[in-house]
Amino acid sequence: MTDRIDPDALTEDEAAQELARLAALLDRANTAYHTEDAPEITDADYDALKARNAAIEARFPTLKRDDSPSEQVGARPADGFAKVAHSVRMMSLSNAFDDDDITEFDTSLRRYLGLDADATLAYTAEPKIDGLSLSLRYEDGVLIQAATRGDGAVGENVTANARTIDDIPETLEGAPAVLEVRGEVYMSHEDFADLNKRQEEAGAKTFANPRNAAAGSLRQLDSQITKSRPLKFFAYSWGELSEPLSDTQSGALQRLSDLGFVTNPLTKRCDGPAEMLAQYAEIEAQRATLDYDIDGVVYKVDDLGLQARLGFRSTTPRWAIAHKFPAELAWTRLESIDIQVGRTGALSPVARLLPVTVGGVVVSNATLHNEDYIQGRDSNGEPIRDGKDIRVGDWVQVYRAGDVIPKVADVDLTQRPEGSEPYTFPETCPECGSEAVREPGDAIRRCTGGLICPAQQVEKLKHFVSRAAFDIEGLGAKQVEQFYTDGWIAEPADIFTLEDRYGSGMQQLKNREGWGEKSATNLFAAIKDAANVPLGRLIFALGIRHVGAQSANLLARHYGSWEVFSTAMSDAAPLEGPAWDELLGIDGVGAVMATALVTAFNQEAERASIDRLAAHLTVEEAAKPDTSSSPVAGKTVVFTGTLEKMTRAEAKARAEALGAKVSGSVSAKTDLLIAGPGAGSKAKKAADLGVETVDEDGWLTLIGDA
Ligand code: IVH
Repeated sequence: MTDRIDPDALTEDEAAQELARLAALLDRANTAYHTEDAPEITDADYDALKARNAAIEARFPTLKRDDSPSEQVGARPADGFAKVAHSVRMMSLSNAFDDDDITEFDTSLRRYLGLDADATLAYTAEPKIDGLSLSLRYEDGVLIQAATRGDGAVGENVTANARTIDDIPETLEGAPAVLEVRGEVYMSHEDFADLNKRQEEAGAKTFANPRNAAAGSLRQLDSQITKSRPLKFFAYSWGELSEPLSDTQSGALQRLSDLGFVTNPLTKRCDGPAEMLAQYAEIEAQRATLDYDIDGVVYKVDDLGLQARLGFRSTTPRWAIAHKFPAELAWTRLESIDIQVGRTGALSPVARLLPVTVGGVVVSNATLHNEDYIQGRDSNGEPIRDGKDIRVGDWVQVYRAGDVIPKVADVDLTQRPEGSEPYTFPETCPECGSEAVREPGDAIRRCTGGLICPAQQVEKLKHFVSRAAFDIEGLGAKQVEQFYTDGWIAEPADIFTLEDRYGSGMQQLKNREGWGEKSATNLFAAIKDAANVPLGRLIFALGIRHVGAQSANLLARHYGSWEVFSTAMSDAAPLEGPAWDELLGIDGVGAVMATALVTAFNQEAERASIDRLAAHLTVEEAAKPDTSSSPVAGKTVVFTGTLEKMTRAEAKARAEALGAKVSGSVSAKTDLLIAGPGAGSKAKKAADLGVETVDEDGWLTLIGDA
């Protein structure tokens, strides 16, 4: 199971599988939290999932999914409220977990802006309120609309409800003609306790925490109910403005306060990382006595001109970061070590723990990553935990931070049971008995059983039905496991013959636990639908090692159709020749992935299984990418010489955001050279090759930034 593996230890195909799993989990968590107001996982777990996703994407940028959770803010709005398209997108914040992340944040902004280490770069530091964000639109000083964040682009119209909140003024004196004020709706601890007491007395549902209570109360279809729930509002940001509020963040907050909004009194302007961390400590110290929940500190660049230059990544501003409060730790007994076998045969050790509460959640499992980790070594052979190994019976410290699966931080050797033995990692697969081997340079030991290993078979099937693959409604991991155990399906092709084999009169499926007439009918219909599949999804669904969703799409776009693709894979069997060269020539396909692909297609049993599957499918051809939206989309550009209006990093980020590919050197493939003063050999080469060349101003005009 890839969810137990450290991001740094994941192989490429495990990373793809893990990104698919994280996308599904985060999507579900978003819907539960934002649309249903009934979170299924804690905020810390959510952050940990997101951090894990980001870490894996950073390591494998080509695997980043089209539906990547890092590109999404919140969830689609629930039905029931009118939808509001935000005129300025509502953003999320990237997270920092320790002091080094903050120093690095400051350093990277300086680098981006081209500021020396001794130039002043001021920030504001303010508590991160644990509520839900709200955007208030005032026109000519009158509140005309209040909208929740929704997915960042479209939220819900909750104007009638917002009007019941005392902290939200109905009218403003001296405000810009158009003013969108953004901030956090929250419930105080005292009001939360009172509300739950009233709910309990009335036999109504109680809320797990003040955040849920605030969200549930704001998103009531009957505003009379919202009125009876005491909600509060802190203003900390803005959307559309007809004129600026100030030229600094702190000035803008002051202006919002002057206009009658409540701003947080713990906000402070700081002159750099040392002062920011001091304010973090101050806010953390006050946390226990505050009457509302906060889950960290938000730092924002104070100068709004610099904020504008720094701009946004897809869902987060570059000029702000949320410094989260640390995760909790707990000590418990390690009762046993289990080995789980994944889709690609990876053997992952899992610690079974005496259940213990960590940060409000009961933990009974933790990842042990791999055999080196258990022995007290990292992937470079360096000692971890001072080289202490982990043994069954040990007293271990578990934590949950930056990773959803709890980890073992430490071992208390003074509590080690007498006569305990070092853990021996199995050299055969616990599921099928095949030899488990560890290739040189790989931290993971793998079962060599391939298709005869039941664990690999079932994991492959689960991957096949996962969201980025076939995504068959009604056929999730649980159902697949059940069907597999009962011998109904052994490989993906079997899914498409389920109805013929077990569907007659729906009797057999209907008689099974958890299935009724309707769900059985729906399942067969969903399977029929899924048989029409885009090429990229099919390639990803095959579960070939090193082939993630992104790579599968690259392959699909290159080959266009299943016939061309599968023939090319057969033709590349000798691992040389034109078909092999073509495969390796695809930007984003390396030798490791190419070998895995060609091996899978030319290994007799695996190919037969793929062909059996393809016989049931209608594979949609892959569309060519749309390059019409921006003047430089799809173009390869090179920057050279000195840029005067922006740093290289800034220029690169802007070009990439417009769909251009930024390259470091000029070649026949270069479409445009942007040459500042001092441009040397690159300008000459571009001239020789006849590549179009513009100066910085020409570039800014071209992209509409002049
Ligand atoms: S600023 C463009 N400041 O945290 C920047 N957000 O994780 C927008 N939040 O969606 C956000 N306290 O709901 C900002 N002082 C604060 C905040 C804050 C809480 C929430 C907000 C945002 C989420 C991002």
